[in-house]
Amino acid sequence: MENKVKPNGKATLTAGGKSVELPVYSGSVGPDVIDIGKMYAQTGMFTLDPGFTSTASCESQITYIDGDAGILLHRGYPIDQLAEQSSFLEVCYLLLKGELPNAAQHKEFDSTITRHTMLHAQFDRFFEGFRRDAHPMAIMCGTVGALSAFYHDSTNVDDPIQRQVAQHRMIAKMPTIAARAFKYSAGQPFVSPRNELDYASNFLRMCFAVPAEDYKINPVLAKAMDRIFILHADHEQNASTSTVRLAGSSGANPFACIAAGIACLWGPAHGGANEAALQMLQEIGTVENVGPYVQKVKNKEAGVRLMGFGHRVYKNYDPRAKVMAQTCREVLKEVGAESDPLLPVALELERVALSDEYFIERKLYPNVDFYSGITLKAMGFPTSMFTVLFALARTVGWIAQWEEMTTDNTQRIGRPRQVYTGAPQRDYVPIGQRK
Ligand code: CMC
Repeated sequence: MENKVKPNGKATLTAGGKSVELPVYSGSVGPDVIDIGKMYAQTGMFTLDPGFTSTASCESQITYIDGDAGILLHRGYPIDQLAEQSSFLEVCYLLLKGELPNAAQHKEFDSTITRHTMLHAQFDRFFEGFRRDAHPMAIMCGTVGALSAFYHDSTNVDDPIQRQVAQHRMIAKMPTIAARAFKYSAGQPFVSPRNELDYASNFLRMCFAVPAEDYKINPVLAKAMDRIFILHADHEQNASTSTVRLAGSSGANPFACIAAGIACLWGPAHGGANEAALQMLQEIGTVENVGPYVQKVKNKEAGVRLMGFGHRVYKNYDPRAKVMAQTCREVLKEVGAESDPLLPVALELERVALSDEYFIERKLYPNVDFYSGITLKAMGFPTSMFTVLFALARTVGWIAQWEEMTTDNTQRIGRPRQVYTGAPQRDYVPIGQRK
């Protein structure tokens, strides 16, 4: 990556009885940053920022979010334009290369991804090691990490060609792995990819075809799947992406780094929220129960939050949620599930929360996960697959960010500091002398 931050003056910090000048840099848009890299050497002090609420960990040219305005741009292009006019593979190309492909580049990329979708035959045996009732995300963590055991020829992070092959392999094979995780838990035989199908259709067929009956591609559902992939493709320096970057900062191979990202994504505060949001709607059950549930949230009863609401960065409507709500309506109409009893519960919950002072003052708006659960359920996916689909789509974002980090000369191994509050140095006490 060619670094582009521009010096923009200095900030003065007075700490530990010293006044020091720290460089300030500007990006193309967004807040300036104060470079504190030499602060410890100059003052003997660290900064403390649990949860990284004010800390930029890297320079990046991939995705930009303005959380107050509810804006999400990939390489400068607004997410709603991409979701409505582009395709997932085109967005993959954009994230990886920085520009939209021309027709020839698009064709070549599409063909490369299509020709990498199969898995090493021995890889299938790996699935059999899992219990049938294993959560598909557990299977994803294990199997994606295991890719490095099958594709040794693309694990050298210093070789740009090997890095590119690994990237193509992961984008191409992730749907095959995700579909196998689904099929394995359903007790059905694996379905092989078909090269004549587009990325989303191929994935749907690998999930829903059975030997007794092929899956008939429904263009509305295939389009919705593709759009869901676009909406989840990248999201700047979130927890799983930062995990991928941190793992990669040590020089770990790309398959291992993406497996680390999948593990982080699994949590209910992150990618697991779509599963948790649907479970919450099921628990609420009826429109009459919305009020009492919202009261429990406001009372901060242990573990009760509005899942699919709130975001660390968005303090406005998540722009992905708007597209997701529209996609949700299209899918429900297509599959004849407009009468899904969870839809009125979701609409009422959204209405109540958006007009309640508690949520207004905390700037809690629906995020992408609020409507994705209902949509995926209507498409036939069990809740346990929701986060798997998120992981599938986010793989390209993780890979693009990993590549950017790998080629950024300013990046070093990630190694945060701490403020230690444990016991100071003391002498070992033999067991016979302890109280
Ligand atoms: N329901 C109720 N209250 C909430 C919620 C929520 N979903 N989210 C935040 N709050 C309250 C929180 O209790 C706190 O109130 P107070 O100031 O009175 O203590 C205030 O809002 C700030 O919350 P926070 O936990 O400091 O905010 P955060 O930035 O650390 O958390 C979050 C962000 C996404 C983890 C959180 O909003 C949350 O848990 N949301 C539910 C899970 C969810 O939907 N996650 C998906 C995020 S989008 C997909 C993705 O990128 O992975």
